[in-house]
Amino acid sequence: MNETETKIKALRQELEKHNYNYYVLSAPTIPDYEYDERLRELQAMEDAHPEYADPHSPTRRIGSDLSKDFEQITHAYPMLSLGNTYSEDEIREFYNRTMRLLNEPFEIVAELKYDGTSISLIYDQGRLTHAVTRGDGTRGDDVTANVKTIRSIPLKLIGDHHPDTFEIRGEILLPWAEFDRLNKEREEQEEPLFANPRNAASGTLKQQNPAIVASRKLDAYFYYLLGENLPAATHYDNLQTARTWGFKIPDVIRKCNTLEEIFDYLAHWDAERKNLPVATDGVVLKVNDLRQQRNLGFTAKSPRWAIAYKFQAERAATRLNSVSFQVGRTGAVTPVANLEPVLLSGTTVKRASLHNADIIEGLDLHIGDYVYVEKGGEIIPKIVGVDTNARSTMQTGEKVRFLPDCPECGASLIRPAGEATHYCPNESGCPPQIKGRIEHFVSRRAMDIRIGPETVEDLYNAGYVQNAADLYTLTFPDLLRLERRAEKSAQNLLDSLEESKSIPFERVLFALGIRYVGETVAKRLASAFLNIEQLREATFESLMQVNEIGERIAQSVLNYFADEGNLSILGRLQASGLQMAVGEAAQSSRSDKLQGRSFVISGIFAHHSRDVYKALIEQHGGKCTGSVSGKTDYILAGDSMGASKLEKATKLGVTIINENEFLNMLNE
Ligand code: IVH
Repeated sequence: MNETETKIKALRQELEKHNYNYYVLSAPTIPDYEYDERLRELQAMEDAHPEYADPHSPTRRIGSDLSKDFEQITHAYPMLSLGNTYSEDEIREFYNRTMRLLNEPFEIVAELKYDGTSISLIYDQGRLTHAVTRGDGTRGDDVTANVKTIRSIPLKLIGDHHPDTFEIRGEILLPWAEFDRLNKEREEQEEPLFANPRNAASGTLKQQNPAIVASRKLDAYFYYLLGENLPAATHYDNLQTARTWGFKIPDVIRKCNTLEEIFDYLAHWDAERKNLPVATDGVVLKVNDLRQQRNLGFTAKSPRWAIAYKFQAERAATRLNSVSFQVGRTGAVTPVANLEPVLLSGTTVKRASLHNADIIEGLDLHIGDYVYVEKGGEIIPKIVGVDTNARSTMQTGEKVRFLPDCPECGASLIRPAGEATHYCPNESGCPPQIKGRIEHFVSRRAMDIRIGPETVEDLYNAGYVQNAADLYTLTFPDLLRLERRAEKSAQNLLDSLEESKSIPFERVLFALGIRYVGETVAKRLASAFLNIEQLREATFESLMQVNEIGERIAQSVLNYFADEGNLSILGRLQASGLQMAVGEAAQSSRSDKLQGRSFVISGIFAHHSRDVYKALIEQHGGKCTGSVSGKTDYILAGDSMGASKLEKATKLGVTIINENEFLNMLNE
């Protein structure tokens, strides 16, 4: 081994150790920035020396941008499910049956039942070779590339006391904190929310883009070792050994020797699980001894040596009074159930999300129905069923159907192919969409303009503000004319509009409210394209090259810039002096090259809109007027410029320039 190779290997080993400390032990020994620095160092060395590449290097966890359909892999051992029970009686039965069948002393291992998506990992010579989903139990999807991005999963095992090949099974989970963050982000983008961390985890695992998977911070806990040469004769000891190889094995597993110990465990975790970072939905009980497990064997569906006890989700029955439909900023229409108020896990529930048309249809909902509301692992309570027995004894109302038209503006709703969400397509004429966009624009994380939803409403109703650009044309008298508006608050609003002109480009980009362009995407776009002109000219391909930007976002950006209305708003915002370029570029996009020059813009242009040209002239110190006079210095002429203007200009001897000449003027 030469020096470079030795260095690369040492770095990999060191980084794996830090990964383990951080993700498995939750006890990092170096600061994050040092870790990042070393990872970058390794990446640089690997780039320079592709001959020492290793698919198991820590740098490979970031995930490539390759997208492909998943291949199917047949499980060496089928992935069975467990018998479920909800009662202590059935646990007693399981215990007594096991005693009868074994006819000798036995031990039970109690562990938590994690509520994520199951995964089977295959290791060969200490390296992760395949990660396969449960699929239909016999065959599953090969999701290795995605699973490799999960930091707590060892790509290479610690030490060398492990079987040559083995399988380990566990649960992939999205921790609560990540789930909340992800849903908040989706709410901002008005994308459908994940109902619970389980859906979020399985949805993430099936993503075609490993970079997205990497960004979601999944975790994985393991609970089942399989293979020919396992290290120990009991389930418990196997798991303890697997922990030393680098796997995250829950430390809340217990050996129980009596039914009482089992019941104590159930009672303890039914309450205590609320404090765990991940979702659990029950307890799994397993016979500890592997020989005894073999003796007990399997039924067609599940092992006789294990059983799952499910915690009771808190649920209540109440009447469905009505269903309302809410139209959001992007036109997404959300059905909401209005319920007879009912107490559920300490809070009064009055409303529940119905998510989409499919859910309503699946429940066959009728107004007046008695519905079951549950607050399991969910933030928003959900309707899990209808008491159909109650229907025969009660007067129920009409079947709930999704609206055909927008409840706010009357436009026909559309449901894009492959999506569950209905949208109102009337972006420029539907009041909640217009107001929602303005509210988003002024929000704290966007332009941070001190104006509340009521004022937006007032300004909209008074006809002053139809879009973000109109905000910058507001005058002091306009604001005073608005009801209830004191001088002080009017001045306050004008001041904060003025201050917003120094908000950085990336936040302006976020404020525009381009669908799917959240804060992170806006940052990426800003640093990739530097200014609004280049972003406007970006192609599908160039957008796709940006990290974390996929087809859906790229298409949405193209759609935004293809809309004349958007371009006009953008041009006016630019003319108002908002930051339309990052840092230094923002500086260089301003000058006094056109100081004292007066322009008239006329005709249609190929490169930029009239608004952008107006903005450019003003940014460089020039002035724009509407009609040609003796004071006009230049006419910026596009195609089909008006004949009368042309005649007047020639008579007055005004210089006529086309857009290329104009742009050259700025570049000189
Ligand atoms: S043992 C043959 N242990 O529950 C038994 N499963 O219905 C193998 N699960 O597919 C599974 N926590 O996805 C086992 N501590 C645990 C578990 C657990 C969650 C899931 C797993 C399995 C399903 C069984």
